[in-house]
Amino acid sequence: MKIGIIGAGNIGGNLTRRLTALGHDVSVANSRGPHTLTELAEETGATPVPVEEAARGAEVVVITIPVKAVPDLPSGLLDGAADGVAVIDTGNYYPRERDGRIAAIQDEGLTESRWTERHIGHPVIKAFNGTYAQDILDRHRPAGAPDRMALPVAGDDAAAKERVRALIDELGFDTVDAGGLDDSWRQQPGTPVYGLRGGVDEVTKALAEASPERPEDFRA
Ligand SMILES: NC(=O)c1ccc[n+]([C@@H]2O[C@H](COP(=O)([O-])OP(=O)(O)OC[C@H]3O[C@@H](n4cnc5c(N)ncnc54)[C@H](OP(=O)(O)O)[C@@H]3O)[C@@H](O)[C@H]2O)c1
Repeated sequence: MKIGIIGAGNIGGNLTRRLTALGHDVSVANSRGPHTLTELAEETGATPVPVEEAARGAEVVVITIPVKAVPDLPSGLLDGAADGVAVIDTGNYYPRERDGRIAAIQDEGLTESRWTERHIGHPVIKAFNGTYAQDILDRHRPAGAPDRMALPVAGDDAAAKERVRALIDELGFDTVDAGGLDDSWRQQPGTPVYGLRGGVDEVTKALAEASPERPEDFRA
């Protein structure tokens, strides 16, 4: 499958490694340009591209950049993507450490993924946001393994969500349907499922136990 990855840091880099290892055709972009991605390209066989070209022909696009950088993404980011492209958002809002104050999230109560979705003008599927980057490389397991981890996946587009869940299964993880994007606060930072290394039952329970109140340190 043709996959575009926007962001080549901890998460984007490791998704590039695993998805190329599985035989996918991966294009990868960062903010500084393809000339800064030659090492990752040599290691993985992925194609480094400018961010404007990352989605070209892609059936899945992963946006994995700091939330504060989302408004810097070029307009028309998804022009040229395959019809029905599924867009994964891995983002977490860290107002104090990184992202600063975003009024729509803090005051209007938008989930960070809904906020990202509005910026890019395309539905997103929230996944991997509570997954340690290193676990993408180290903790994948075949289906049915007793210690296979499960990842929550939230989003409104049923077909896109199914494609993303199938890809995560291929990457070596179970998934739990975490509802629509307005439910995705259940997997944001500070919730029981965030960073949980559990299976389907534990993830399902943690999602149910989440409180919509964000901890005080998630306000800037
Ligand atoms: N680290 C984790 O374990 C983890 C786990 C789950 C979710 N997350 C979330 O996933 C997102 C990415 O995290 P990360 O740790 O992978 O971040 P990171 O290591 O800081 O990497 C960020 C990447 O985004 C790129 N970038 C920034 N602005 C961009 C722009 N305008 N256009 C294109 N690329 C841009 C950066 O490119 P340059 O280097 O060229 O600036 C860099 O490659 C964050 O929202 C984070 O909260 C992280």
